[in-house]
Amino acid sequence: MTSILEQLENSVSHALVVAFGTELAATDPLIAPTNNPKFGDYQSNVALSLAKPLKQNPRAIAQSIIDNLQLEDKCDPPTIAGPGFINFTLKPDYISELLRKIQLDERLGIPEVQPTEKVIVDFSSPNIAKEMHVGHLRSTIIGDAIARILEFRGYDVLRLNHVGDWGTQFGMLIAYLREAYPEALTTANALDIGDLVSLYKKAKVRFDEDEEFKQNARQEVVNLQAGAEDSLHAWKLLCDQSRQEFQVIYDLLDIKLEERGESFYNPFLEDIVSKLEQKGLLEESEGAQCVFLDGFTNKDGDPLPLIVQKTDGGFNYATTDLAALKYRVKEDGVARIIYVTDSGQANHFAGVFQVAKKAGILPESVEVVHVPFGLVLGKDGKRIKTRSGETVKLKDLLDEAIERAKKDLETRLQEEGRQETPEFINHVAEVVGLSAVKYADLSQNRTSDYKFDYDKMLDLKGNTAPYLLYAYVRPQGISRKGNIDFSQLDTDTQIVLTEEAELVLAKHILQLEEVIKEVESTLLPNRISLYLFELSQKFNQMYEQCEILKADEPQRTSRLILADLTARTIKLGLSLLGIDVLERM
Ligand code: ARG
Repeated sequence: MTSILEQLENSVSHALVVAFGTELAATDPLIAPTNNPKFGDYQSNVALSLAKPLKQNPRAIAQSIIDNLQLEDKCDPPTIAGPGFINFTLKPDYISELLRKIQLDERLGIPEVQPTEKVIVDFSSPNIAKEMHVGHLRSTIIGDAIARILEFRGYDVLRLNHVGDWGTQFGMLIAYLREAYPEALTTANALDIGDLVSLYKKAKVRFDEDEEFKQNARQEVVNLQAGAEDSLHAWKLLCDQSRQEFQVIYDLLDIKLEERGESFYNPFLEDIVSKLEQKGLLEESEGAQCVFLDGFTNKDGDPLPLIVQKTDGGFNYATTDLAALKYRVKEDGVARIIYVTDSGQANHFAGVFQVAKKAGILPESVEVVHVPFGLVLGKDGKRIKTRSGETVKLKDLLDEAIERAKKDLETRLQEEGRQETPEFINHVAEVVGLSAVKYADLSQNRTSDYKFDYDKMLDLKGNTAPYLLYAYVRPQGISRKGNIDFSQLDTDTQIVLTEEAELVLAKHILQLEEVIKEVESTLLPNRISLYLFELSQKFNQMYEQCEILKADEPQRTSRLILADLTARTIKLGLSLLGIDVLERM
């Protein structure tokens, strides 16, 4: 469908051209939903913005626009408010008609884009032989939601895991293992990742202290890069080991990713450096090969470099990203690349994008976006850690959420005198616990830091996963109680909306398309969370104020349709956030 907002925009754009000429064809009609019914359902500010350029009174401009709108079948006659706002109120019949359309559509009226474009979402991307930390958890949850939203809209999404599986750390690790645990270099699963991480730390200490060890480590990197069989074998074992650990988290969170790590681009790195050289972009600075950036300076005002090759000849994180960019543009043929990492990497990406453009690697037609996010903090606002002060293991973090959800559930069952099977309890606890963690992250503006607080995320009230899951369960309860199959509801008689609470809910249901399209460009999934939270509130209000099963027809069927549409919207919306619903909880 064309969303209501788009229909209003088209109509206002048309009116602007008719009233003021084609120069205004590209003017943004500046329409947004209102949050106060006093101002109708949508409001346009365009007349105010045109007052200066047109040298006219904004109210007069607003009137000329209104005179040329063709919205009789959709809205009551638009009104002018205050200095020149135009207010639109949708007609109940039009709302009923739209509700019917989405009732009959599995996709709830959300169209797929045509033609299909290819998009890469580069997310999660932990580092081999290191612990996957809370920053990677955020990237995983946010990246997965973005990928799901774009997939639902019909994009051909490539979900890439750009794991850190290459570089000097492997030389260090292999050199250390040769001394300490040679079997780990030849036998699969001789170590677990916990060991790997602590071994990595020990290796690093040796590397920093012992010159001979340093030489060995460097030699291992050279061997690895030269493709020496036993080094490669050892490297593969180490990667496999980490991979298995990462997979535990991905399985738990239901995340699909295609691994294409840094090592994949290794064969192309030299080429990148020569290309930069050819373009005359390369400069040597303190022995390293760099490209100096425009618009990035240090505190003395000197331009900052993007380092592409170190003094020892090794390549950098940025070189790999340039090679990856080139590959994604040329070989994958993408239209858009989305990188989901913490805000700390904003400069890295800005630098990479700038250099790629200059080097002709990144054409105008390809959009690259860094999607930054803030830190995960403990309840106390400080860096999140265990009681003993160590970094928190992701698996433990998720298990605790499930454990707490289970306790909450058991208390509730006892209070309500309900008996449930252990399977039911475990399933509900797992869905609630994991949804709570995902939703807590996705309901915040991702650019802010967020506090990891179990009590808050598991609260049954407020903008939380449990609250939304309940709002979904409620219509299912109605259907069970009234023995109603929502998919068999009458589709002939007109949907009637007489009560204010019904209208408010109906209009909100119809905004889903606008919200999804907005998120497709802003890449801020919290907009969907807010939409779903408000939807749940509006449904709960309708439910409190209006009889459903006991109402007379046609109200009864109309309200059942609203209940069904609410549930389907919540289910769809949550699925876009990577969250499953429960039929009972
Ligand atoms: N491995 C990196 C890290 O842990 C994230 C990689 C993000 N993706 C990229 N193309 N640079 O910080």
